[in-house]
Amino acid sequence: MSDLATPYSLLGGEDRVRALVDRFYDLMEELPAAAAVRAMHPSDLAGSRNKLFLFLSGWLGGPGLYVQRYGHPRLRARHLPFPIDTAGSDAWMLCMRLALEEQVESPLREQLLQAFSRTASHMENSGTRQRVGLGIGRSASSARAVAVHDPDVE
Ligand code: HEM
Repeated sequence: MSDLATPYSLLGGEDRVRALVDRFYDLMEELPAAAAVRAMHPSDLAGSRNKLFLFLSGWLGGPGLYVQRYGHPRLRARHLPFPIDTAGSDAWMLCMRLALEEQVESPLREQLLQAFSRTASHMENSGTRQRVGLGIGRSASSARAVAVHDPDVE
């Protein structure tokens, strides 16, 4: 592995990032456990899919497509209109975890799981920040190596 390897290149580039986003949102449509999170989104998910793809491209160390188009992500601020509690964060992570399990090999899968989990927790803006439920740990040291860009959550 090159020192320059990024999660984006390890994943396989643009097509694989798009595939991950598409599966993630397909699962959000399908899973009853994600119904409340799905309901926060527009009825047509095409725009949401595209924005998440653009964001993840840069967040994973690939082309900074979201920043080029929309400027500074201010991800946490952009989520403030939506009340996101631990259950919402866990539901979002359930979809992402299943998509990662289907599409990404270890150890990248676990590294991305940790990185997404940290970012999803940071989006919580309602209710308690206590972690319960899915057992998505955030302390596994092996996952800290993942070099995702600062999620820029303020
Ligand atoms: C924690 C649970 C989360 C919930 C409930 C949630 C929900 C939402 C909703 C309802 C939108 C608006 C969709 C739209 O306007 O089309 C949105 C936008 C977005 N979300 Fe999340 N989200 C969560 C976590 C995350 C995480 C962890 C990431 C990144 C790793 C992320 C990245 C984005 C991006 C890039 C947008 C588009 C922002 C924009 O330009 O308007 N979200 N999210």
